Amino acid sequence: MSIITASQFDHLREMVLRESAIVLEPGKEYLVESRLAPIARREGLGSVSELVHKLMTSPSAKMTSEIIDAMTTNETSFFRDVHPWQTLKEEILPKLIESRRIDRRLSVWCAACSSGQEPYSLAMLLRDTFPDIVKSWDVTIIATDLSDSMLYRCREGVYSQLEVNRGLPAPMLVRNFQREGADWRIDPELRRMVDVRTCNLAVPNSYPRAASRFDLVFIRNVLIYFDEATKTKILNETSSRMQSDGYLLLGSSEVSISSATRLVRHQFGRTIYFQPS
Ligand SMILES: C[S@@+](CC[C@H](N)C(=O)[O-])C[C@H]1O[C@@H](n2cnc3c(N)ncnc32)[C@H](O)[C@@H]1O
Repeated sequence: MSIITASQFDHLREMVLRESAIVLEPGKEYLVESRLAPIARREGLGSVSELVHKLMTSPSAKMTSEIIDAMTTNETSFFRDVHPWQTLKEEILPKLIESRRIDRRLSVWCAACSSGQEPYSLAMLLRDTFPDIVKSWDVTIIATDLSDSMLYRCREGVYSQLEVNRGLPAPMLVRNFQREGADWRIDPELRRMVDVRTCNLAVPNSYPRAASRFDLVFIRNVLIYFDEATKTKILNETSSRMQSDGYLLLGSSEVSISSATRLVRHQFGRTIYFQPS
């Protein structure tokens, strides 16, 4: 057995959709082959086809989770797209800080955080721009993902030279990271600002619970992997967990959302953001 068969591909597609809501379009067999080949090798199997055969005949929770993890796309970078971070600095965070000055509490959820560049970008931005708020307010950044390997990386907070070269200006790098061999480790204070947890966006019961509703939510560059009904469900579940004047940021290519969502679209500069209606 070598290349996966049509029925094996269908089995895998159904499993990935059921477990993660990720839609594997027909024709993505090559992607499946390249993503699952390392797992097949680790299992001592001769091919991906043998791996899928094993999954179909004697499935285990561990193998299912490893396959789902391998099928996630984890592309990310520090301060990705630049302009949303400018908008956070100039518009969103100042407004939130002004309206929360009595409660002195800021609650952020960074969903689908991948290896952590997004939540740590926010932690750096907050500490650099609003140091007094970070020191004296109750600031919580909950970072979640479905992928165990990405959650591990996010908890570690260690990045290669290539990764820090993507999006981090040199002064920011030396201010916020410590050298560790060839890599860079996030400053412990920033690490402590981020609470890393598992959450499958397809399963609302797994959404994080915060002390209060979220003031700011990031769901960036993940909705593209889901179908329209799933996107709408996720956005409605999310908006019900947000403060009525809270802010939601999506990926640049994800801002055309269904009118069935209870979200109102706003724009500041090049950044589109949403608020519960
Ligand atoms: C392309 S990355 C986006 C990372 C970051 N938000 C950014 O914009 O740079 C997509 C992330 O979504 C995660 N993901 C995929 N399906 C998910 C699901 N059902 N629930 C939660 N996270 C999921 C993947 O594990 C991956 O880390």
